[in-house]
Amino acid sequence: MLHDVEAVVLVGGRGTRLRPLTLSAPKPMLPMAGVPFLAHLLSRIRAAGVRHVVLGTSYLAETFSDHFGDGEALGLDISYVVEDRPLGTGGGIRNVAKYLSSENVLVFNGDVLCGTDLGAVVDTHRRTEADVTLHLVRVRDPRAYGCVPTDADGQVLEFLEKTADPPTDQINAGCYVFRRSVIESIPQGRPVSVERETFPGLLAAGARVSGHVDNAYWRDMGTPADLVHGSADLVRGIAPSDALPGPTGESLLLDGAKVADSALVFGGTTVGRGARIGGGARVEGATLFDGAVVGEGAVIEHAVIGAGARVDEGAVVSESVVGDRAVVGEYCELRGGMRIWPDVVLPPRGVRFSPDV
Ligand code: GTP
Repeated sequence: MLHDVEAVVLVGGRGTRLRPLTLSAPKPMLPMAGVPFLAHLLSRIRAAGVRHVVLGTSYLAETFSDHFGDGEALGLDISYVVEDRPLGTGGGIRNVAKYLSSENVLVFNGDVLCGTDLGAVVDTHRRTEADVTLHLVRVRDPRAYGCVPTDADGQVLEFLEKTADPPTDQINAGCYVFRRSVIESIPQGRPVSVERETFPGLLAAGARVSGHVDNAYWRDMGTPADLVHGSADLVRGIAPSDALPGPTGESLLLDGAKVADSALVFGGTTVGRGARIGGGARVEGATLFDGAVVGEGAVIEHAVIGAGARVDEGAVVSESVVGDRAVVGEYCELRGGMRIWPDVVLPPRGVRFSPDV
């Protein structure tokens, strides 16, 4: 158990790829399987035995402390550090240094859902006497990520940007172990990227940078597609979490949610508090925020329906995002990455993809 390791979670980003959902909440606070995404990550940190967690915040900083407070309800001791202007990933880590006292510190990007054994990552760090250890995950298609090749001893060789022809399937999973002295060596008071500046700089200076490679469950919450698939994986128990507010299964119904008997709700769908689904509707692998309403015969597939939003009778919303309180009128059809901004009202049959109705 990692009682002698502290954790830092970087949660200061603006989450632009998840707009419009992130206009009102920072990405790590978006509801996923009934609780803020960050609650799942914190449950994994707590389960590994870590007690003290420092959140590096910036965008909508107060939403984190308003929700998690001192962390006692989660069995954690949470400190908050606010960046007046975003300092980037490296600057964010440097900015919290004075709140840390353990020799080794686990650092997480606050938008990563992973099933890796955190104790094993720290073991690799200690065994290899590394300055920094990176969790590297092997993925089927590494082209969309930064690749990190390692040698036979697990020493990181270089950091490569996204490329069409990656030389390895090992990618940076956004979870690191830092020696605290290395954190203190990051320049202070200016934006720094760990991926572009700190890690390449450490390699150039001859530091020991280790890779801990595994095939654990891993997904980052960068895009709406990641968010709905990650949420469905949590609901179905594919992604591990101790923070799920109900049993795993095909769907998760939160307090006051109502689903008509003739509706089909499956694929890891979350039906938010007080949300309603009408008769004959088909809802697959979707996330309905609190108070969302799906009309009779509507089809929702791998989509996010915002708080208090309405999708009326016969409408189709597939792989799209409907902002809070927006209305998708009867027989509208949204597909393939559409984003409806909060409070927008689409009239009945006002948007179609297919030629027929
Ligand atoms: P996009 O705008 O959609 O790229 O999202 P993002 O702003 O969250 O950026 P990205 O996904 O690259 O960030 C990875 C993690 O680092 C997220 O958990 C962010 O919250 C966090 N992060 C990014 N920039 C900063 C920053 O300047 N300060 C802090 N404290 N955290 C940051």
